[in-house]
Amino acid sequence: MNRREFLTRGAGTVAAAATLGEFAFAASPQEHSRPVRLGIAGLGNRGTHLLRLALGIPGVYVKAVCDLSEDNLKRASGIVQKAQGSEPALYAKAPNDYGAMVKRDDIDAVLIATPTKWHCPMAIEAMKAGKHVGSEVPAGFQLQELWDLVKTKEATGRRYMLLENYLYMRHIMTVWNMVRAGVLGEPYYAECGYLHDCRFMLFKKDGSLDWWGDWAANNFGSDYPTHAMGPVSKWMGLNEGDRMEYCTSMMTAPRVLHEYAVRKYGADSPQGKITWALGEFVSTQIRTVNGRVIRLDYDVNSPRPAVLPYMIQGTKGLYDSRHGVYIEHVSQGEKWEDLRKYREQYDHACWKRDAQKAEKAGHGGGDYFAVRDFVEMVRQDREPWIDVYDAASWSVLYWCSRESIANRSRTVDIPDFTDGRWKDQNWRKDSHRPA
Ligand SMILES: NC(=O)c1ccc[n+]([C@@H]2O[C@H](COP(=O)([O-])OP(=O)(O)OC[C@H]3O[C@@H](n4cnc5c(N)ncnc54)[C@H](O)[C@@H]3O)[C@@H](O)[C@H]2O)c1
Repeated sequence: MNRREFLTRGAGTVAAAATLGEFAFAASPQEHSRPVRLGIAGLGNRGTHLLRLALGIPGVYVKAVCDLSEDNLKRASGIVQKAQGSEPALYAKAPNDYGAMVKRDDIDAVLIATPTKWHCPMAIEAMKAGKHVGSEVPAGFQLQELWDLVKTKEATGRRYMLLENYLYMRHIMTVWNMVRAGVLGEPYYAECGYLHDCRFMLFKKDGSLDWWGDWAANNFGSDYPTHAMGPVSKWMGLNEGDRMEYCTSMMTAPRVLHEYAVRKYGADSPQGKITWALGEFVSTQIRTVNGRVIRLDYDVNSPRPAVLPYMIQGTKGLYDSRHGVYIEHVSQGEKWEDLRKYREQYDHACWKRDAQKAEKAGHGGGDYFAVRDFVEMVRQDREPWIDVYDAASWSVLYWCSRESIANRSRTVDIPDFTDGRWKDQNWRKDSHRPA
């Protein structure tokens, strides 16, 4: 994916969203058997994109939408009206209105695409009201709220899926199949990162801080870890036979954001005087119980072309998204091979089937499969592939990295949200996996 594609797909912008027809999903017999009725919270860039994708699935009805912005609600209402011929109920005075929306008895599940600080409180409220949840990434920021999320899911028995779309990209799933087939041997080291200049998201048009900028002004750490960690976690089988045990993190002192704000608004402007908390580069090293190591990099502020590096090293060879594949005794002359050489054999079945439709949906096709699997979770009332334990253990890396950085990079224990169940490789064998 080149930078232009990354930025249009990566931001999941409304502008990038295609027409509904392009998102139309193939209907399986099951899909018509049981309607899925949704409420959606947060109809900004991402929520509007998810709305369009959900409406493209046969049997999905959007009954209600909730947002603080009347304009965004109006836009969403128009999209729903056009697609299903009836307007959704509108909830405009969130967060109190959100509580009213999730109590409706004509919705089965809620999709949450509000700013991240709302994800946990909203997911918890929805599950307590008996609704399943699909949450945008990350699942939350704070240790306690992530525990509350897991405990509420367990107490209510509702389904919860993190909409980690990067996991479904074609190259990621090809490598997942290769790892499961043993092509790389036993994986023991991985590198991953989210390196994407997102400075354009810091300020609103009127110059005030947007939620993303407000976060960077007041918080530091690896606060957007799931796009990077999701693929590595599934490749390594984390939470199924191994788990992340502890980590240590370092961050460069903030430089670029100040320069950026001064350049844009002037040294004497309120923006030019902000003392930013988030440094440019955050590097986190994670050790697992079984002695494996993961390097998680994060940088959303440096001037640089976007890249999503993924690398997994096993006892027989490795995949590195920047170079390709190398398998000892197979690859000729210590040379990298193109991953596409392995695609014929290891392409995932869902990509073989739905590549054409997925490619139009955004994020290298990941959005298509994430939304489809969320709908299937609700329709089948079944545990998803990316469950609350994955969601909490990947998202808590923000809190862990912050704790480490604040204390001269001391090691921080990563909580075990599974309460020891990770020791059994098969404890999630009944959950829905992409097929
Ligand atoms: N998976 C991905 O690839 C991807 C891509 C972009 C964004 N995201 C995630 O999606 C979420 C939304 O990001 P975005 O870029 O759409 O932001 P955005 O600012 O464009 O949209 C957020 C929307 O939420 C509304 N909102 C704010 N507080 C609310 C509340 N209390 N109740 C109801 N509505 C509220 C806002 O009015 C706005 O319409 C974030 O958590 C972000 O991390 C994920």
